[in-house]
Amino acid sequence: MTEFELRGITKRFPGVVACNGVNLDIESGVLHCIVGENGAGKTTLMSLLYGLLQPDKGDIFVRGQPTTIASPLHAIELGLGMVHQEFKLFPSLTVAENVVFRSEPTRLGWIDRKAANRKVEELAESYGLEVDPRARVEDLSVGVLQRVEILKALYREASVLILDEPTAVLTPQERDRLFEVMRRLRDSGRTIVFITHKLAEVMAVADRITVLRDGKVVSDLDPETTTPEEISRHMTGRDLKPVTATPGVGDGELVLEVDSLHVEGRHGLMAVADVSFGVRAGEVVGVAAVAGNGQSELVESIAGLRPVASGTIRLQGHDITHSDVESRRSIGLSYIPEDRHRVGTAAAASVAENLLMGYQEEQSLRKGRWFDGEAVDHHAETLTDDYDIRVSDSGVVAGTLSGGNLQRVILAREMSHDSPLVIAQQPTRGVDIGAIEFIHTELLAARNRGRAILLVSAELTEIQDLATRILVMYEGRIVAELPPDVDEAEIGLHMTGASGGG
Ligand SMILES: Nc1ncnc2c1ncn2[C@@H]1O[C@H](COP(=O)(O)OP(=O)(O)O)[C@@H](O)[C@H]1O
Ligand SMILES: [Mg+2]
Repeated sequence: MTEFELRGITKRFPGVVACNGVNLDIESGVLHCIVGENGAGKTTLMSLLYGLLQPDKGDIFVRGQPTTIASPLHAIELGLGMVHQEFKLFPSLTVAENVVFRSEPTRLGWIDRKAANRKVEELAESYGLEVDPRARVEDLSVGVLQRVEILKALYREASVLILDEPTAVLTPQERDRLFEVMRRLRDSGRTIVFITHKLAEVMAVADRITVLRDGKVVSDLDPETTTPEEISRHMTGRDLKPVTATPGVGDGELVLEVDSLHVEGRHGLMAVADVSFGVRAGEVVGVAAVAGNGQSELVESIAGLRPVASGTIRLQGHDITHSDVESRRSIGLSYIPEDRHRVGTAAAASVAENLLMGYQEEQSLRKGRWFDGEAVDHHAETLTDDYDIRVSDSGVVAGTLSGGNLQRVILAREMSHDSPLVIAQQPTRGVDIGAIEFIHTELLAARNRGRAILLVSAELTEIQDLATRILVMYEGRIVAELPPDVDEAEIGLHMTGASGGG
């Protein structure tokens, strides 16, 4: 049986066709993966199914009947459940209260709390969703919150569950547990629509694969016969070169030395506690941690954006513990920040100006006290070419660029100076696969030229592909140092503090 058929679905937003004549069949009892790069139209398509948006053109059939899905409430009546990227739960209520909200079991006209707890417990148990119905939502980790959202949909008897990039916020262990739950739901006859842009995940769970690109369905693939390379070719429209580190480098001189570092976080608590490590020329040291375990504070203190409470930081032998950003840069530090809008670029300035930021004193770009206009233009042109920044000319304002393009601007500025130390903080977050490949290639090329690279990333595969050594942080401390070929599950174990380190 077919749960949903989409026929010629088109949805426009000002300046963009988010879905362009999409035909898609979703069969009952199937785990159907929808993959595509950022901006391919995945979320828009799901919002159309869930009644959050209405199509401009095309028809939706629900179990064979032409249907206008008027609202999410209507979608729920039709048996749809959706787990959004942002959770929509009440923090001060318990798990059970959230799950049964607006469909509460009653007894003599009153909400029957006991019955609610029992029902939620039973439901959770039957699908292997570990949650305590009595726990308060504000005390729960994201992995558990997601389970609560799934329970909410199941409680409303959803026969089709849509999960929009559910793994983005999970540790590897939580992700594997989610996959188990998804399979169980599928085996119980439910239909799962799983949105992702990660190929390994698709290969792990999909029964069917639909690839979206630029708002169009480019292919329907069978996981039995396809390969990650083929999926990625369909997603991007071209071949990708695999990027992996060549081991055996990393005995160069010590470029960065961090000793007994303490950095204060919010509320005066120590975000970084007694951290010591070094990064040598020719190595990529990867820092793996669940968000909020001190990794951001660590790199920000090294970059000079956050004061150090105690301990020392040395760059090329100079004590920079309390130096300002400018002197760190002149000794030799490049920084690709996590927040490319607030820290990395000035939205109102042109691409050319952004390419100059932090390097205004460079003599080759100046004529005495003034900028050499020709040299500045030439500098911008060379960098936009070399780093494939896609703009009509470098006078374009940076605020109009896409995430991937903006990241290329930062990369161009930071990497072209060939500083001894490069700090890359979530360098590929939110950029498309093409830009990811480019960024990885640049980082490895810099390493091969003998730069020292400190990489912080929430993507374990990125760390495993690029790092020569992996440091795992948990609650502000380094709890493990691992080789890059270590099992992902082991890294994950240390990330959750379960290894007992620290
Ligand atoms: N509410 C909106 N208003 C304007 N443009 C939007 C809106 N939602 C999505 N878009 C645009 O539609 C395109 C598809 O976006 P989206 O469906 O979110 O893609 P995906 O989920 O695959 O990353 C993108 O170009 C995006 O910028
Ligand atoms: Mg999306």
